[in-house]
Parts: sequence; C-alpha cells; structure tokens
Amino acid sequence: MKRVLVLGRNGMVGKEIDNPEIEIYGPSRDACNISNPAHISSFLSSIKPDVIINAAGFTDVDAAEKDKYYEAFEVNCNGPFHLAKAIADSKRDTKLVHISSDFVFAGRHAPYSEENTDEVPVNAYGMSKLFGDILSTKLCEEAGIKLAIIRTSWVFGSGRPNFPEAILKKLLNTSEPVRVVDDQVGVPTLAKDLAEACVNLAIGDRVGLFNFRNSGESCSRYTWARSIVRAAFSATGRKEFSVERILPCATDDLPRRAAKRPFNTTLSIDKYGPTPDWETATISHVEKVLKEWPLL
Ligand SMILES: NC(=O)c1ccc[n+]([C@@H]2O[C@H](COP(=O)([O-])OP(=O)(O)OC[C@H]3O[C@@H](n4cnc5c(N)ncnc54)[C@H](OP(=O)(O)O)[C@@H]3O)[C@@H](O)[C@H]2O)c1
Repeated sequence: MKRVLVLGRNGMVGKEIDNPEIEIYGPSRDACNISNPAHISSFLSSIKPDVIINAAGFTDVDAAEKDKYYEAFEVNCNGPFHLAKAIADSKRDTKLVHISSDFVFAGRHAPYSEENTDEVPVNAYGMSKLFGDILSTKLCEEAGIKLAIIRTSWVFGSGRPNFPEAILKKLLNTSEPVRVVDDQVGVPTLAKDLAEACVNLAIGDRVGLFNFRNSGESCSRYTWARSIVRAAFSATGRKEFSVERILPCATDDLPRRAAKRPFNTTLSIDKYGPTPDWETATISHVEKVLKEWPLL
C-alpha cells in the first residue's frame, strides 16, 4: 500500500482525498508548513512517503493582490520548490503531485492545453502559482524526481463554502435580484473529482502537466449561478430560488475587487481524459448542501 503525505489536508480539496488503496498522512499546517524546509524534511524522514500530494495553497486571490503578496509567494511558489528540494535531498524515489491553477493564464486565448506557456497572469495569485509550477518542474527535471502537476479551475465542494453557497445565501438574504458576471468564463470542478484525479496520478505512473476540470461546455459565472439556482429550486421548491432572480452583468458593473480576474480560462482536458460532467456535479453538490445547511 502506497504511503501518501497530503499537505493542505484541511482544505477543500485536501479533505476529499480518500482511497482504500493508499495510506494517508495529513499533518496540519502548523505541523508541516510547506514554507518551512525543516518541517518538510522531518516529515519525509519520519513517514518516508511514496508520494506527496500538495493540496496546500494560498487561495485568497484578492488578499494576494493587496497585502499578502509575500505570503502568497511563500506558499504557492516557494512551497512546491521546497517540497521538490526536500525530495531531492532525501534521495528517495518519492513522487510529487502538485495542484496548480487556471489563473496561470491571462484568459484571452482559451481553450488552454498543457502546451500553452506564453501568457502572463493577470494577478499576483496567478503569478505565484505559475512560478511554483516553473520552479518545481525545473528542479524535478534536474533531480530526476517524478512530478505531476494538475492545473484546475473553479473548484467547489463540501470542504468550505464557495461560489454555490454564496449564490444561495444571497438569494435567501435579500429580496432583490442577484447580479452575476457573464464576462468571466471557465469550467467548474468538483473538489471530490479533483481529489480522485490527484490519487490516480499518485498511484499511477503518469508524470507531467495535466489540466483537470469537470466535463461539459464552458460557462460564465452567470450560467453556473443559474444551474445552481435551478438545482436548489428542484430540491426545495422554495420561491427564493427562482432562476429569474439571477441577472447577468459585466465585471465592471460590480464593485471593483483588488485582483483582476482572467476573462476565459477554459482548460482543455484531452490529455487527462474523460471526467464527470459539471452540471450533474453541481446538482448533486447543491442537493447535499441544502440537506446539510443549518439555515434551511
Ligand atoms: N479553489 C479554487 O477555485 C482553485 C482553483 C484552481 C486551483 N486551486 C488550487 O487547488 C489547491 C487546493 O485549493 P483549495 O481550494 O482546497 O484551498 P483551501 O480550501 O484554501 O485550502 C488550502 C489548504 O492549504 C493549507 N495551507 C495554507 N498555507 C499552508 C502552508 N504554508 N503550509 C501548509 N499548508 C498550508 C491550508 O491550511 P489551513 O487548513 O490551516 O488553513 C488549507 O488546508 C491549491 O493549490 C489552489 O491554488 C484552487
């Protein structure tokens, strides 16, 4: 049975990593901070993992742009570099599976394949993720370490409230229509499906860069919000969840956020292979949320 060290175990994706064929070790951030090389080396020598899945990340895109630029780079750029370096120093055959982001792209030339490399991210978070990919790839190539990087988009799941929960809460908390941008385009990814992809790459032989998202047509945030609300209405019949209450708007019509968002980051998943469909994943997630949510 493979021994797998999962970093970011308490995050939305990390929580979903589960498979009877692997033995999981998931230390907290305090115990194994990926910005701290001594922590990583100590876990590598005590656990001797066959694989590290790095699901840790600094994911607050606006904070990364405002006052947490340094922290974002510490975690998203230096973190995967420290992991690769610690594996190289350990001289063991540990594989690294690292999660990256669609925000490494500027969003003007979608769909993006694994071959696309020539864009500059539009925000600091995207920069930090891109440099994490570049540094860890370079080091792993030089040291002969097996590395799989998974670039993903618009992750949602049970681990923490995200876009679907925000839309449902807004509809319950106001009687006004809710405006959602229709000029940010991408494809949603269920955290559980992404976690399964991480495990597949962890236990399999494949290495390299992989895009991963749910299948289906790309959509705007507005289109996704309508799917979420339709699912909530079907599940509850509550009039608050009327799809007519979701109105499209442009990003510029809403209060300005600290970080720019890329326009269209649709990832091509031909290389990874078939994945579950995002509309079905959205419906089952919304049904689960509505059952578990204390507000309802
Ligand atoms: N969410 C998205 O839409 C999205 C889209 C594309 C890519 N991604 C990527 O997917 C990965 C997982 O994202 P997520 O949504 O699951 O993130 P998340 O819910 O914000 O969880 C991040 C996890 O990382 C841990 N962490 C943060 N800094 C750390 C450090 N210095 N050392 C060790 N652990 C640290 C956090 O610890 P605590 O539990 O202590 O806070 C948390 O468990 C990240 O690489 C992210 O960039 C996410």
